[in-house]
Amino acid sequence: MFSIILAAAMMAAQPVAEPPVSDPSVKPQYPTLPVITDNEHLYETFGGKDGLTALMDDAMNRWLANPRTRPFFEHADQARIKELLVKQFCVVMHGPCTYDGRTMAEAHRGMNISEGSFYALVEELQVAMNKRHIPFNAQNRLIAGLAPMHRDIINNK
Ligand code: HEM
Repeated sequence: MFSIILAAAMMAAQPVAEPPVSDPSVKPQYPTLPVITDNEHLYETFGGKDGLTALMDDAMNRWLANPRTRPFFEHADQARIKELLVKQFCVVMHGPCTYDGRTMAEAHRGMNISEGSFYALVEELQVAMNKRHIPFNAQNRLIAGLAPMHRDIINNK
């Protein structure tokens, strides 16, 4: 299932203006801000900024409860991450936002996040989307936009 979404994402995603990388040794392999171009109403389907903020509150609680993701988030600045995720998802969905966080390669460098932790994070996000009754095809579009970022996130030493 995930690999189908991943393949679709490689075709659908297009780069937009990326945040600068502060360390020149960081070489992103995938745009941090892919833009999903085949559904102009995705942002509205997710309830706009308020909907995304509520979604991220729920998702972060789930990441903190899941043993595969908790170690990464428990000592991190959760409020800042949630705020940046709202902005990032908004841009990915063609919403009226600007993302001013780091690239995915830069933000996750040195964490050595495993594939299992990455999938656990995505699965908890899916549970949170289900709770908010986000339609399945809208969920898939978002996941498709995010999935290729795994190259910059997993095993990033
Ligand atoms: C598609 C998947 C993911 C997306 C879209 C994503 C997105 C983001 C964003 C936007 C930030 C903020 C960037 C910044 O600080 O400037 C961030 C930071 C962070 N992410 Fe992720 N992330 C993903 C996967 C993961 C996974 C799998 C983990 C761990 C299990 C993780 C752990 C973290 C942590 C701990 C930070 C804070 C880093 C710091 O404060 O230095 N992320 N992520």
